[in-house]
Amino acid sequence: MNRISHQNHDVEWNAARATDLYGIEYWGAGHFQVSADGLVQVTADTGGGRGTINLLDIVDGLSERGLPMPVLLRIENLLDAQIAQINESFARAIAQSGYRGRYRGVFPIKVNQQSQIIEEVASFGARFGHGLEAGSKAELLIALATLDAMNGYIVCNGYKDEEFINLGLMAQKLGYRIFFVVETPAELPLLIQCSKAAGIRPRIGARVKLSSRVSGHWNATSGDRSIFGLTSMQLIDLVDTLKAHAMLDCMEMLHVHLGSQIPNIRDIRTGVMEACRYYVDLVREGAPLGNLDLGGGLAVDYEGSRSSHTHSMNYSMEEYCLDIIEVVMSILDPHDIPHPTIVTESGRALVAYGSVLLFNILDVTRFEAHALPEQVPESEHENVHNLWEVLKSITFERAQECYNDALFYRDEIRDLFRRGQISLRSRALAENVTLEILQRIKSVIIGNEDEYPELAGLEEALADIYYGNFSVFQSLPDIWAIDQVFPIMPIHRLDELPTRQAILADITCDCDGKIDRFAWDGTLNNTLPVHPLIEGKEYYLGAFLVGAYQETLGDLHNLLGDTHVVSVRINADGSFDYVKEVEGDSVADVLSYVEYHPQTLLQKFRNSAEQGVRAGHISATERQQLVELYATGLRGYTYFER
Ligand SMILES: Cc1ncc(COP(=O)(O)O)c(C=O)c1O
Repeated sequence: MNRISHQNHDVEWNAARATDLYGIEYWGAGHFQVSADGLVQVTADTGGGRGTINLLDIVDGLSERGLPMPVLLRIENLLDAQIAQINESFARAIAQSGYRGRYRGVFPIKVNQQSQIIEEVASFGARFGHGLEAGSKAELLIALATLDAMNGYIVCNGYKDEEFINLGLMAQKLGYRIFFVVETPAELPLLIQCSKAAGIRPRIGARVKLSSRVSGHWNATSGDRSIFGLTSMQLIDLVDTLKAHAMLDCMEMLHVHLGSQIPNIRDIRTGVMEACRYYVDLVREGAPLGNLDLGGGLAVDYEGSRSSHTHSMNYSMEEYCLDIIEVVMSILDPHDIPHPTIVTESGRALVAYGSVLLFNILDVTRFEAHALPEQVPESEHENVHNLWEVLKSITFERAQECYNDALFYRDEIRDLFRRGQISLRSRALAENVTLEILQRIKSVIIGNEDEYPELAGLEEALADIYYGNFSVFQSLPDIWAIDQVFPIMPIHRLDELPTRQAILADITCDCDGKIDRFAWDGTLNNTLPVHPLIEGKEYYLGAFLVGAYQETLGDLHNLLGDTHVVSVRINADGSFDYVKEVEGDSVADVLSYVEYHPQTLLQKFRNSAEQGVRAGHISATERQQLVELYATGLRGYTYFER
């Protein structure tokens, strides 16, 4: 589809065209679709067949329950579906290839530490023996309390102090299958010392630095300069030290982590190949190993382009699993090395799909001319008259010329205004005429933009600003921090042609609090097709695939706090249950995070109001109303409330 040909009003619009435009079939991985009546739907396995629900019904139900937007929606079935998919894909790849090892997934807690997520990974994942990866003491405590001792691995990465190691060792006694991954040479002496003192033989993993580099945003995680992992020399030292302590038999895992969101399957193959070479030689050195942990990296196609672009992936989960099994066999088999248990620490691929940020649009700014006069008054400056002439002469053929002239005269007028030579009223008229010129140029070239490459920025420059009831910094921090792209689209009215192009602004009033990169129509765009707002009716958008990293990385910029979080479970009959709701932060909550005491603030305000009464500025009744307003404000949601 041509980039903005969807705005061609002659073509009949329907939900199928909306599906194409927003690329929902490509990034939705079969979980999301558009209904014939223009609603975004979620379809999921329910245990008793597949069930489908409308996101708008969830929003309506929340509103009836007094939970206003924005809301982070978690769909439990989707998390289950992704856990099942990776385990079943590996199982199929193993069966197809005649691989004689097994697969053990571990979910890295850091990707989404929320208790609901970890509990669901542990309970649903139990049937596959899916475990957890802990990168800190706190995460180990979560893992130990959540995972069944006999089920699933616990892989301990990150810096480990004595307390961390001792807890892990004692937990091993309980039956937990804990792996201590040595990431730096300094960690080993402490691990040896603690395990000897406890009389427990630890399961040791060695994380190696691969020289294979991956493409994508996280390419620094791989290659010689990656921060974690042992060099080949350090690995040899580790083997020798373990031998010297008669502990080489404890070395049960080789660990690598190529990076996160690896878009190109070739990079994964190359990395796994190098990891297997290490594996072969470590076995030759006498290490038993038996487990090959390939870390994270399985990507999510946020962009829906199925390409090797940073926010996409040029492979499927099925292909990922098959390729890994194939590469491992191709390197190990010639050496007759038993097939290891393959461990992956896939994070985003498991949790991204299950969370959707839902928010309403509060307002819009349009870059359109106000009513123009019939004629420019004779008395106006000649440059204003020149602009008027440009306006009258716009044709497709003259589009570039008119654009150049308009900007020239507009800039002259701005200059004259700065020097005090024309009035504010004249400048306003000139700006208004310029806007009309730009809008008309945009409409005459529509569908044939390729002929005017210099006007490529026009659409963005004239795009509406839709103000959304959310905070980029709190709910979508990666958009701000690392230019992450998430699929964003309206969740209703998709049977109507989206006639507007917009960027999104949040309510933080920070100039970085905006979204101006969107994936739709199979490519990245600076604006999003949206519908005009209808007076008195809410317009809802969803930011999809936000379940990985966003919740904990979010911050309190402008003191906009956690949104409400609601979990639903879809039933086979198309109904759904609100399984859990967690109320978002109140204003008092966020104030206490930054060391204010809401009660003290209220008391201080009461006192000021009392002084106002004494000074005769307000009555005692007004004081009462004012104090009540302040107290209500403290109890309220940090987001815009209608
Ligand atoms: C050691 C380790 N394992 C696993 C992951 C998860 O990666 P992903 O979310 O790409 O699967 C990360 C994140 O970067 C990591 O550092």
